[in-house]
Amino acid sequence: PDDGYRLWLKYDLIKDAPKREAYARSAQFIALNGTSPILKSAADELQMGLQGLLGRTVPIIANAGSRTGGIVLSVASAPNVGAQSLAADGYQIVARKAGNITIFGKNDSGVLYGAFALLRQLQTGQQVENLSLTSNPKIQYRMLNHWDNTNGTIERGYAGESLWKWYELPNTVDPRYRDYARANASLGINGTVVNNVNASARFMTAEYIEKVAALANVFRPYGIRIYLSIYFPAPKTIGGLKTADPLDPEVRKWWADKTKEIYKVIPDFGGFLVKANSEGEPGPQDYGRTHADGANMLADALRPYDGIVMWRAFVYKADPKADRFKAAHEEFTPLDGKFDKKVIVQVKNGPIDFQPREPFSPLFGNMPKTPLSVEFQITQEYLGFATHWVYEAPLFKECLDTDTYVKGKGSPSGGATVAKVIDGSVHQYAMTAIAGVANTGSDRNWTGNPMAQANWYAYGRLAWDHSLSSEGIADEWVKMTLTHEPKAVKTITDLMLKSREIYVDYNTPLGLSRPWSGVHFAPEPWQEKSVRPDWTAIYYHRADSIGLGFDRTATGSNALAQYRPEVQQQWSNPETCPLPYLLWFHHVPWTKKLSTGRTLWDELCTRFYTGADSVVWMQKQWAQVKPAVDPAIFADVTGRLITQRKEAIWWRDSWVLYLQTYSKQPIPASLPKPE
Ligand code: GCU
Repeated sequence: PDDGYRLWLKYDLIKDAPKREAYARSAQFIALNGTSPILKSAADELQMGLQGLLGRTVPIIANAGSRTGGIVLSVASAPNVGAQSLAADGYQIVARKAGNITIFGKNDSGVLYGAFALLRQLQTGQQVENLSLTSNPKIQYRMLNHWDNTNGTIERGYAGESLWKWYELPNTVDPRYRDYARANASLGINGTVVNNVNASARFMTAEYIEKVAALANVFRPYGIRIYLSIYFPAPKTIGGLKTADPLDPEVRKWWADKTKEIYKVIPDFGGFLVKANSEGEPGPQDYGRTHADGANMLADALRPYDGIVMWRAFVYKADPKADRFKAAHEEFTPLDGKFDKKVIVQVKNGPIDFQPREPFSPLFGNMPKTPLSVEFQITQEYLGFATHWVYEAPLFKECLDTDTYVKGKGSPSGGATVAKVIDGSVHQYAMTAIAGVANTGSDRNWTGNPMAQANWYAYGRLAWDHSLSSEGIADEWVKMTLTHEPKAVKTITDLMLKSREIYVDYNTPLGLSRPWSGVHFAPEPWQEKSVRPDWTAIYYHRADSIGLGFDRTATGSNALAQYRPEVQQQWSNPETCPLPYLLWFHHVPWTKKLSTGRTLWDELCTRFYTGADSVVWMQKQWAQVKPAVDPAIFADVTGRLITQRKEAIWWRDSWVLYLQTYSKQPIPASLPKPE
């Protein structure tokens, strides 16, 4: 049985014999013009993939000469076949009748991405005859962020221990690191931050730099650069200095020397990721300096090299009177234009923290002079860990496709969506980036829940091309990973597409947010005390005898004012605010009639109950695909769905019973009776 280790790169024999033979006729050899390690990875991957898919060994040769019927890999600007020109990392695949299939790459990585794209064509059963396919990444730095610690644990990781075996490195190099790199390269991911944003200073020691360098050596042939999260006071804690003040000359020299030391062993080091003055992490503000002062100091240290600083905007203060929603915008917009050109500011998709549904962060569109990247969370911190089945592409897309209206109404480019802000088309950013917090770990199947592999996949595909659809990505992933049986493909993709909305319904419907305490698993809406006032549930949901929800209009925190008028208009009127966002922006009376014809209370109950019941529907749908999927994966997901059902009921009941103490109303009789 399949243990899920091979992810979407399974390369099982294509069962349809005529199709397989047709592919084989076009893939009689792999001609590799070039010798670089990345090109070699491309040829090796093709050979391995074709071995599996076609059941034969396809030779790698140095030059096609006059031979036809093979695959030619070449770094070259693509010929003029009417297609768009290639950008860095872009590729073009051209299949000529009675000729060869040529994969042109703008650079070595482009060839590698083209090789994976050709394999994907075969894996998903597409035509290769007359193929003409051009693809350029829309974003330059396509990053995974690992929240991994030196002791092997992963912050918010639910799939085992860290992949990185720090105790063994640098001398023992687990072959799995290469498979990790292959999986990422297959999606076009080209950078990875290997340690937690709550960073240990140890990563800046010679001991750890050497370990990190060993990982970099494995990733390099796959076009992946390594980055490190830094602990801002490292010059004090490991450098013996009296201060970590970013304007202090000795501190600046310490970082410059440290950076030099890193580049000596990792010549293609990518740069630093920084969480500073955030959730207790120290930072430049401890010395009366700004985020820009801190970031620019690091940019200076990186000046001689091709490395960058990714400075996170995840900041908020423990102030019961303030609205955390507004904090990042308040702190960062005054700094627009003050960051060095080597700095990208990394912004979480929403203003709070990776909730099951959030409005987009109001920073997007409001930092025209500072490249912003969006940070998504692939690991399911607030999405039921590895037990609940939530396909995240619709969540990513919802943010990416929302119009910020910073270019006014109906701008010619089809709107200044969040995607177009971060891909640089709105403000012509000189650098563009996107980050996803990884959901991988040491579990054999990488992600704990086999269905969560689709979230890693979807993030990577969207990082390359944010215009892809959630449905298209799901269809590809299912075919590459689970089955080609048409009915099962349809059933599973349909389940995936509905899974996030079902989760929202039984977890945080109508725009509820953050009903969690410490571990962020089950909602605990009754949590009214914590070490910080803004770490209680009531701070967010604001339940009282009148109603529920956080008033962020002018009568409340007025966080809405951080958005453009067109956006405000969509959300500021409780009568017309779309229901999924209602309680994000309004304190709504329990008895208020909503657009559905039900009162707020009845609507809430309806969502919680139908959400929890929909898990039964998921179970039934999944049961139908049994003959089409691997028995081990089928059994694994079946088990998780039983748990998901049980927990959905708990979560529904904890919310409903808690809120009932305020609403003082019965659960509508029309709802299905509990089992
Ligand atoms: C969340 C998460 C933390 C994490 C933080 C961050 O608050 O719960 O574990 O460190 O985000 O993104 O920095």
